[in-house]
Amino acid sequence: MKGIKSFRPDRAARIRERAGDLLARMTLAQKIGQMTQPERLHIAPAQVREYHIGSVLSGGGSCPGRNRPADWVAMNDAYWAASMEEDAGHLAIPVLYGVDAIHGNANVLGATIFPHNIGLGAAGDPELVERIGRATAREVLAAGVDWTFAPTLAVARDPRWGRSYESYSEDPGLVAAYAGRIARGLQGAGNGDDPRRPGPGSESAHSGPNGAGLPQLGPDGVVACAKHWVGDGGTSAGVDQGDTRASEEELRRLHIAPYMPALEAGVLTVMVSLSSWNGEKCHAHRYLIRDLLKGELGFAGFVISDWNGADPLADDYGEAVAMAVNAGIDMFMVPERWREFISALTSQVEGGAVPMARIDDAARRILGVKFACGLFDRPRPALRRGAGGRRFGCREHRALAREAVRKSLVLLKNENGTLPLDRDARILVTGRNAHDRGRQCGGFTVEWQGVSGNDRIPGGASIWEGVRAVAPRAALCDKGGAAAAAGDFDAAVVVIGERPYAEGMGDIRAPGPVRPGASHPPAGPGALQPYGQTLELATLHPGDLAAIRGLASRGIPVVAVLISGRPLVIDAELAESAAFVAAWLPGSEGAGVADLLFGDRDFHGRLPMAWPNAMWPLPNGDAAGSGGAGILFPRGYGLRLG
Ligand code: BGC
Repeated sequence: MKGIKSFRPDRAARIRERAGDLLARMTLAQKIGQMTQPERLHIAPAQVREYHIGSVLSGGGSCPGRNRPADWVAMNDAYWAASMEEDAGHLAIPVLYGVDAIHGNANVLGATIFPHNIGLGAAGDPELVERIGRATAREVLAAGVDWTFAPTLAVARDPRWGRSYESYSEDPGLVAAYAGRIARGLQGAGNGDDPRRPGPGSESAHSGPNGAGLPQLGPDGVVACAKHWVGDGGTSAGVDQGDTRASEEELRRLHIAPYMPALEAGVLTVMVSLSSWNGEKCHAHRYLIRDLLKGELGFAGFVISDWNGADPLADDYGEAVAMAVNAGIDMFMVPERWREFISALTSQVEGGAVPMARIDDAARRILGVKFACGLFDRPRPALRRGAGGRRFGCREHRALAREAVRKSLVLLKNENGTLPLDRDARILVTGRNAHDRGRQCGGFTVEWQGVSGNDRIPGGASIWEGVRAVAPRAALCDKGGAAAAAGDFDAAVVVIGERPYAEGMGDIRAPGPVRPGASHPPAGPGALQPYGQTLELATLHPGDLAAIRGLASRGIPVVAVLISGRPLVIDAELAESAAFVAAWLPGSEGAGVADLLFGDRDFHGRLPMAWPNAMWPLPNGDAAGSGGAGILFPRGYGLRLG
């Protein structure tokens, strides 16, 4: 294979040489600057230059100007220009900007918003996921951004975890089947200079240290970040940032296995998990990061901390920083206190607690990724391919998202052939989530915790708008449908379920602060509380059952459509409904729901997680294919119309 084998060593050598040359000219301050990632609200372009900052991020919901692609490009232009000034005291090293484009570039107004990962898991379609990666990368590039903190490769083992929706499945095999495809989709086809993947027996994408074997981005690619290393979905009782108690064999089988195809595909960065493994914080875990990920698995990109991830490691901040750097973390997400990080790390190096060789390794890895992804060769963001965005929120991407919605819906019940509905029927559409594009998108959309209502999700369609477009006699009553008279309607579509949430605020557990010293600024006094104490929908949102009952008792067949980031206990709602659809968090293209309700396409999705029938016992994640204690529907369940 001429392309890969003969070219790669040259390319790797070139990257090594360029990174080595730069490194040799860098001061300690410049190297530590590269290792520092502040949040945009806390750093001005002039400071990027002054402190030699390597990367800036947007936390969820942190957006420039009016939050349109042009505002993002202008912001990135200013950071880039500052980073590229060159004089006696400053080296031109382009800044790398990172965002959470975890279901489309969903922070930005007007983006195409794809179903959250759990819905994509239900679709069971790796090729679809790769196409979504490509479309997402184009919408990220449209904002002048080069790096997304995606994919999440968590294997969610407990639906009480507030981040369950970020996981494709409780099944590591399914997550693994997606991992390489999504990484390749986001980063583009470039691999060496040859778009083909290395075949069996050829050198792996991460075959060597110091940039050797780092893949090249495709022209429409962005840097991807596999997260959160590792075991984030396996914490006891599904507590976010909790403790994953597992033997090493189990950790490898359940949580590490999905990383292998992503590493093979050349994912350039990995983010460490805020959780612990058997009581030891991942951010201080030298074995997991240095020995296993970088050593045994040969990961040659760079490792980034999660938000303030070093803070809880020790009472003394300097000591905490030293622990994390020595464990192998290369770049630090230090949103607000980045100056403190810089001075703490500087003292730790000067005092000998962090060896200079570790700093050089970190800086070399960061520079290696910047060279490998072509950042040094790209012009300023405004002049880059795709900037400003003809493709942003375009029709083609929205059609893809709609296809993903169609493939992700899971039909759980269909009594007496209630579905498909007749488009000429008189259909009442109701329920809290019926006409709410914000809620159907869920967390990590425009705001960190997501939004409710339609105003901040321009484009796309609510589920009601999707129904209205094809069923002329349908009517919306979003007040719960109590006023409907039996004779007025042939059927009702009742859209029920959760409101948006993200991270620990989505946990189901005893009340109490989610995270003392929480990462993102709390959005209000209640923001640090978990979602609830039970998975029972009838307790969480009693109005949903009341709405279904009210209609069913009048003899109107109810089609329940559940918006949720995970399986919930729905026995009561299911019993009263004639048909029941798990729609997950479908994103901006609610019309995909109507495509199935009216039978234009058949249902396709299968449960990516077993569905519980009670809070106790919860399925343990291994109960695929068969029933078992606590299971209402096993993983893989899903009805068809035809
Ligand atoms: C999350 C990460 C995310 C980061 C940046 C953290 O709180 O755990 O998944 O990438 O914030 O927004």
